[in-house]
Amino acid sequence: MRTDFNCRVSRRSLLLAGAGLAATAGLGSRPAFAANIREYKIAAAPARVGLLGENHPETDVWAYNGSVPGPTLRLRQGEPARIVVDNRLAQDTTVHCHGIRLPIGMDGVPGISQAPIKPGERFTYGFTPPDAGTFWYHPHANSLEQFGRGLAGVLIVDEREPVAIDRDLVWMLADWRLGSDGVIAAGFGNHMEAVMAGRTGSTVTLNGAVPIDQPVRAGERIRLRLVNGALARLMALRFEGHRPVIVAVDGQPCEPFEPDNGRLLLGPAMRIDVIIDMQGEPGRRYAVVDDFYDGLSYTLTNLIYDQGVPVRPHALDGPLSLPRNPLPEPDLTTAERHDIVLQGGMMGAGMMSGLGGMNGMMTPGMDGGAAWAINDISMTGDGQAGMPPLLTFQRGRSVVLSIRNQTAWWHPMHFHGHSLRVLNRNGAPVPHHQWQDTVLLAPKDTVDCAFVADNPGDWMLHCHVMDHQVAGLMTILRVA
Ligand code: C2O
Ligand code: CU
Ligand code: CU
Repeated sequence: MRTDFNCRVSRRSLLLAGAGLAATAGLGSRPAFAANIREYKIAAAPARVGLLGENHPETDVWAYNGSVPGPTLRLRQGEPARIVVDNRLAQDTTVHCHGIRLPIGMDGVPGISQAPIKPGERFTYGFTPPDAGTFWYHPHANSLEQFGRGLAGVLIVDEREPVAIDRDLVWMLADWRLGSDGVIAAGFGNHMEAVMAGRTGSTVTLNGAVPIDQPVRAGERIRLRLVNGALARLMALRFEGHRPVIVAVDGQPCEPFEPDNGRLLLGPAMRIDVIIDMQGEPGRRYAVVDDFYDGLSYTLTNLIYDQGVPVRPHALDGPLSLPRNPLPEPDLTTAERHDIVLQGGMMGAGMMSGLGGMNGMMTPGMDGGAAWAINDISMTGDGQAGMPPLLTFQRGRSVVLSIRNQTAWWHPMHFHGHSLRVLNRNGAPVPHHQWQDTVLLAPKDTVDCAFVADNPGDWMLHCHVMDHQVAGLMTILRVA
């Protein structure tokens, strides 16, 4: 199919710069001149917010436009957008639009795709999102701390035609390590956490506050966009008395399906869009439970039904499927195949797994240095100039990556600039035609995924448990 799709988009959006030059090639029947460029301004700065709710102390955070999460950016599929970022922090930053297939110069990785934005400086990101869906944005400089102190927001790309639902809701979930005084605990980059599960927190928030009940009406059809914006916490959500249908994973539409046991598994950085027909009883309350960790299940929030009459007498017919995005389908017969082996971390009983054979490329950015590796190489930190790519692909090639988790820990592995077609998990085909930018691997899992290397640049592939990334679970794949 359109293997050069991204390249066209990238050249165009680089040229755009306010000129209203929205060429239409590859984008269907758009008018020759898209009138508006959507522009958002976001400033990263210290702020004080009420994460814990009324009658609790406020928390000092770092935030976009003073709020946690930052403003929800709403772009339109195939239409140019600009995000103007002001850095009012006392340190360098960047903004990465997670999951968007954009040109490398807009990817926000310091030293690799751009120079960091210095304190007091401004940078304008400009691109045309080819895919509709649920994405998000966060810094990619000093990521563990900047993101851990609150810098993150949701980025929604709307479909060209509106989707037939009653309400479109976003739940941006985050996880904080807070004292009862509301203060964020220090100690980012603790080595013991880095070699284990990462910095899990003590307080989960929904759209920036400890969750309160969520009002719903009987009979309505809701599109709920779930975003796991935690540093390290995995989540598995169950909606008591309801049957959510997954319609998109990581922004990309799939064949609609109900998850096993109604459990929505969300590793850090993952998104799931579900359609829920609200078939509960008016006036009743239904728990939404997160039971990912054995013995630590808790009620995240409750759906609380209005007393009023249902908005429609019967449930709507049939599951709703979202229009496909223009992703190039990899050719599995000609694809080149590579193993990506995840290594390191604590193996249990106080033993570090051997990182033997590690051959250089250690750039320790934290106390204790590297704890993880990919194919025997540890790239630490947030990305630095001069990191050589692990693999280089000719543009247009189809590629199959077999990602093998040899460690004792879960890893949500995220790839920039592309979306991965998930083929098999531990040898079994993955159904429902799922594309993901963040592929969750349980300990010892092997997942095969495929993509067309159509977006030129140096793209990070890293674990989105931020402690793991900065301690070595990161690499670069180059599309020539
Ligand atoms: Cu969510 Cu490398 O990023
Ligand atoms: Cu990303
Ligand atoms: Cu990890």
